[in-house]
Amino acid sequence: MKDLDPTTVSADEWDEMNFPRPEEQEFDRVVERAISRRGFLGGMLAFGSGAAVMGTGLLDSTSALAQQASRFAFKPIPTATDSTVHVPEGYSWNILTRWGDPLFAEAEGDFTDETGGSAAMSDKVFGENTDGMELFVIGDRQVIAVNQEYVNNKINLPQAKDGTPASAEDVRKLQNLQGVTVMEVSETENGWEVVKDSSFNRRITHNTPMHITGPAAGHDLMKTEADPTGTESLGTFNNCGAGKTPWGTYLTCEENFNGYFGATGEMPTDEKIAAGYARYGVAAEGRYAYEKFDARFDVSQNPNEPHRAGWIVEIDPSDASSTPVKRTALGRFKHENAACVLAPDGRVVVYMGDDERGEFLYKWVSRDVYVPGGDTSTLLDEGTLHVAKFNEDQTGTWLALTPEATGMSGAEIAIFTRTAASKVGATTMDRPEWVAVNPTAIEAYCCLTNNSRRGAMNDDGSIRTNAGGDAMTVNAVNPRETNGYGQIVRWRPASENHASSIFEWDLYVMAGNPSVHTEGPYAGSANVNTGNMFNSPDGMVMDSTGMLWIQTDGDDSNEGDFVGQGNNQMLVGDPVTGEIQRFLTGPNGSEVTGLCWSADRRTMFVGIQHPAAPFPDGEGKLPRSSIIAIKRDDNALLG
Ligand code: FEO
Ligand code: CA
Ligand code: CA
Repeated sequence: MKDLDPTTVSADEWDEMNFPRPEEQEFDRVVERAISRRGFLGGMLAFGSGAAVMGTGLLDSTSALAQQASRFAFKPIPTATDSTVHVPEGYSWNILTRWGDPLFAEAEGDFTDETGGSAAMSDKVFGENTDGMELFVIGDRQVIAVNQEYVNNKINLPQAKDGTPASAEDVRKLQNLQGVTVMEVSETENGWEVVKDSSFNRRITHNTPMHITGPAAGHDLMKTEADPTGTESLGTFNNCGAGKTPWGTYLTCEENFNGYFGATGEMPTDEKIAAGYARYGVAAEGRYAYEKFDARFDVSQNPNEPHRAGWIVEIDPSDASSTPVKRTALGRFKHENAACVLAPDGRVVVYMGDDERGEFLYKWVSRDVYVPGGDTSTLLDEGTLHVAKFNEDQTGTWLALTPEATGMSGAEIAIFTRTAASKVGATTMDRPEWVAVNPTAIEAYCCLTNNSRRGAMNDDGSIRTNAGGDAMTVNAVNPRETNGYGQIVRWRPASENHASSIFEWDLYVMAGNPSVHTEGPYAGSANVNTGNMFNSPDGMVMDSTGMLWIQTDGDDSNEGDFVGQGNNQMLVGDPVTGEIQRFLTGPNGSEVTGLCWSADRRTMFVGIQHPAAPFPDGEGKLPRSSIIAIKRDDNALLG
């Protein structure tokens, strides 16, 4: 196995090293690929500068609106390669909180750059690697729930050799720095601050008790020695994007959970369990060494424990004593975010991406309807998962994952959702990241961040597949081989109903680099130019005015295919005209991820994850993942 330093290897690369994809002969699919590509280039997008924005597709239906005045309220900024945040003229930013900052007074003064904070106080401070977040207005208070996705061992354990945990205490510190933070925030004369010791403040970590509900609850594959009922687990893991329900709860999304598990002895031999490990990437050697100090993460002792991770977890931010609930009806995969919207009849629709090369885009539709003020305690427990099939003609279908369609039980569909989706012939995607639903039009968007293996061949000439053996053939919605730049797909459901099983789609943007590739698909779509280019769209939120905020997690080397693209950034897109402008650049090495607004929408909170530079405190200090608060200097609305 190659270097598995968690500070330098992405989760995707780590999976690839542990699970080189199976090789197979797929000549039919190679032919299909050629046809797909021709169809796409001939029929859908115009490339390169000077071409009309998106020659055909959904944008045509709104092209008259494209004549309207610009909806961008700022002067776009250039790229940056330095170690701080930049925003447009007339805007400014401040730190709201950073890793190690106290949520409770007892943790004040605990953090130092020598220790990175003590294990004892590690669940009393803001955690590491801030990600998806939502703001809740509770009475006259404002409460942010925010994910702490993963850890950077070398930074979080500065005294451990190579960042390798050397004790149960080290492991406990790492476990405590991840999960979710719920914190009250308030705007004071000194700017935005976390309200220390607020009764809303809490940390939810890798050890917090959770309920398990829905079709997988109580199934044999969910039972462990510590929980023979299969309904009570500990911890939420690798919390990536998020979601907010219409009834005011927070959905946290468990992504690369596989890396927390490892084996000190034999790997399980049970066929079903082993097949699931292979599909989800649970390996003998864990990424964080938990299994060496905490038996719960040792799959040779607890083979079902990984089945209790990879879920959507519902949290009530208004009650710090509430028990989070793992909602298994929404499926188990590497969840990116959970974008909720109501169908016209009141059923709840949740769009969800599975972020791994060649995995799928999902939609869940509740059985029951949401009634404002009604009982929502089991609303997310009964419903139907669907997976997206994108057709070449810009139509698509949500395929229902039912026992009839998959030959699997309801519990197995929930636990091995990827397998169920493969069985119905879902479209392999270029790593679905966040989905955003437009509040001003019946449509939704998903970032397809990149896919270095799309269309690639194995040595024997067969095409690369996902871990389930589904060929990553080039197709209309994932139209580029070796896709290093990413694209954003948009769909409109039939009958203006997000619960409909059919939709039309187009590509809102294909990122690219027109300074390297003067023409062709790698230059990007016509709404990409040398002044706004970026790669690897990831976080994405639609604001209340219907503008699309796009955050990137890509290659910030500023070299080769990425020359001129600088650090990761946040851009704003106009869905109507297709125009995209750069609003923010992050510090070197960071990913920009997570976005929400204050109640008055005059402040925007943005997450800066894993800066490499010593952001925000400067030379000689540890780099600390942070949430920043952005305001307009004239205190105007920000979306
Ligand atoms: Fe946690 Fe797919 O990003
Ligand atoms: Ca992400
Ligand atoms: Ca990403």
